[in-house]
Amino acid sequence: MIHICYRSGMRPVAHILPIRNRIPVLLVNRFNSILQSSTYDAGNKSSTNGLDPINTKSVMGENVEDSPSSSIKQLYEMNKSRRDENVHIISKPSETAEQKFESMKQARIEKIERNIENLATPKQMKSYLDQYIIGQDECKKIMSVAIYNHYLRVNDNLIRRLKKSSFKRGNTGVAISQTCDSKTGIPGSEERAKLALEFSKGSSSKEAPKLDKTNLILIGPSGSGKTLMAKTIARILNVPIVIQDCTSLTQAGYIGEDIADCVQKLFNRSGRNVEECERGIVVLDEVDKLAHKVDASSSKDISGEGVQQSLLKLIEGSQVPVHGNIKKNTAFAHTDPDEDEKVIDTSNVLFIAMGAFVGLDRIIAKRLTLEQSDSENQNDGDSNVHDHAPGTKESMKPSSLNRVIPGDIIKFGMIPEFIGRLPIIATLKNLTAEDLERVLVTPKNSIIQQYRYTFSKLGIELAVTGPALQSVAQLSLKNGTGARGLHSILSKLLLSANYDCPGSNIAFVLINKEVIESFSRSWLSGKSLETFKAKYFLSGEKKEFMNCIHKEDPILENKLLYHLI
Ligand SMILES: Nc1ncnc2c1ncn2[C@@H]1O[C@H](COP(=O)(O)OP(=O)(O)O)[C@@H](O)[C@H]1O
Ligand SMILES: [Mg+2]
Repeated sequence: MIHICYRSGMRPVAHILPIRNRIPVLLVNRFNSILQSSTYDAGNKSSTNGLDPINTKSVMGENVEDSPSSSIKQLYEMNKSRRDENVHIISKPSETAEQKFESMKQARIEKIERNIENLATPKQMKSYLDQYIIGQDECKKIMSVAIYNHYLRVNDNLIRRLKKSSFKRGNTGVAISQTCDSKTGIPGSEERAKLALEFSKGSSSKEAPKLDKTNLILIGPSGSGKTLMAKTIARILNVPIVIQDCTSLTQAGYIGEDIADCVQKLFNRSGRNVEECERGIVVLDEVDKLAHKVDASSSKDISGEGVQQSLLKLIEGSQVPVHGNIKKNTAFAHTDPDEDEKVIDTSNVLFIAMGAFVGLDRIIAKRLTLEQSDSENQNDGDSNVHDHAPGTKESMKPSSLNRVIPGDIIKFGMIPEFIGRLPIIATLKNLTAEDLERVLVTPKNSIIQQYRYTFSKLGIELAVTGPALQSVAQLSLKNGTGARGLHSILSKLLLSANYDCPGSNIAFVLINKEVIESFSRSWLSGKSLETFKAKYFLSGEKKEFMNCIHKEDPILENKLLYHLI
C-alpha cells in the first residue's frame, strides 16, 4: 500500500488509502516530478522526514489511467506489477488554483441548477396558496407565475455571471470577478476583445436573451388577502421577506422611516447574509398612501411623491449600504458608523407593491365610460351602425378593478416612473359572503380553528354552528371591511366568554343562530357589546350542548362527536 504525500509548501499530488504503518512514500513536487521516496509512518500520523499528509478525503476507485498527472501514472505503472501490495491510487492529482477555481465554479453552477429544479412550480405555489387563501384565483396565478419567473431570472443571471467569471490570482473562493471596470461599467480589454470576436462571429446575436426584472403590484380592497398572500408566499419560498408599511416611509433626511431601512431589515431577516438578502422580497404595503395629493397645498411632499421618487432607484437596482452589526437607531444611525458595513445590490430583490387604492375603481369606470361613448360616437358616424342593447355597458359593472391599466394608477396619484417599474398588475376581488364564511373555517389556521385552539387550552370546547357562521359573514360584508372584519366581529362575540371562562367551571361555549341574532341587534342599534354573552354549558351539560348544536347543524354535531375537527 502506498501513500503519496507532499512536503509543506508543495502541492499535493495524490493520496493513497488505506494507510498502513511504514508505507513507502513518493514525494512529488508541483510539477509532478518525483523528488524523493520515503516511508510514512501512518501509525502515529507523522512522517519520518517531515512529510505532511493532508487531504486524505478521497474517493475510492479513481481511474488512474485517465488521470492527467504523469507522475501518478508513473507511480501507478511502477506499482501495477506489485499487485501483491494492493496498490490503490484513489484520489485525483491535485488541482492548480485555477483548476480549483473552475471546479468550485462548476459546483456552484450545478448547485444553482439544482435550485432551479427544486423551485416550486407555479402550480405547486398556487395549490399551497389555496390552502390558506380563499378565492382570488387569478391573483394567486399571477403571483405564482411572476415569482417563479423571477427566481428563474435570478438563478439565470447568477449562472451567467458565474460562467463569465474568470480566475484571478489572489481569489480565495468563487467570487464572481468583474469583467467590467467596476467604476465605469465599461468592459475591460479582455472582455472587449471577447465581445469583438463574438461580434465578428455573429455569435452575440445567438446569446440567450437577458431576462428583465418583473416586480408586481397587487391592488385589492381592504381585507381581501393582499398581505396574507405575501406572508404565505414567503413561507413557501424560504427566502427572506420584509413587509414594509409605506405610510411610515419618508425621504432620506426627514423624520420617519428611511427608504433604505427596508433593505436593512431584509438583511437582518436573512441572517446578515448578503447573498440571501439579495434574493429576498420587499413588500411595499399600503403603497397607495404614497399617491401625491392633487390638491396638496404644501410645496414639499415628503411622504408621498418624494418617497416614490426615492423608491425608484431601489426598485430598479441600486447598491445600498447595510450595517453588519445592528445597533440601529434610525435617528442616530448616521452618527454611529459601523465597521462591519456591507453593500446590498437590490437588482435581484423582488418588489411587490400592494394597496387598496380606494377610488381607483371610479377612475377606471370613468375611463371605460369615456371609451365606450367614444366608440359609440364612432359607430354612430358609421353607415353600418350596429344596434346596442341598452344597459349593457361594461363600465357600469360594479367591479371594474380587474380592467385597470397603468394610466388609471397614474391618475390615482402614482408617478409614471414608479408604476413603470411594476409591470405586472394583479387585482383582488371583494370577498363575497360565501367566501367570508369559508374564510372562517376552511383555510389552514382559520380564524375559528384559532379560537377553538385557544379555548381548548382552557379545557373548553367552543362550537360555532353553520347558520351562525353565515350570519357572521353577512355582518362582516355589511361593514365592508372584508375578511378583516371577521376578526373584529368574533373578538367582540367572544369577549365575554374569554373573560368569564378562565378559572370557571364552564366546559362548553356555543355560538348559534339565537346568539348571533341578539348580537347583531345590539351591534346594529349601536348598543354596548361588553355585556353580550355566548351560551355557556357546565361540564355535566354536554348533552344539552350537543342537543343545541343538533337542532341547527347535525354535521357539526357529528364532527364534534367523532373528533373530526
Ligand atoms: N382571501 C382570504 N382568504 C383567507 N383569509 C383571508 C383572506 N383575505 C383576508 N383574510 C383574513 O383577513 C385578514 C386580513 O387580511 P389581509 O391580507 O391583511 O388584508 P389586506 O388585503 O387588507 O392586506 C387575514 O389575516 C386573514 O385572516
Ligand atoms: Mg394589507
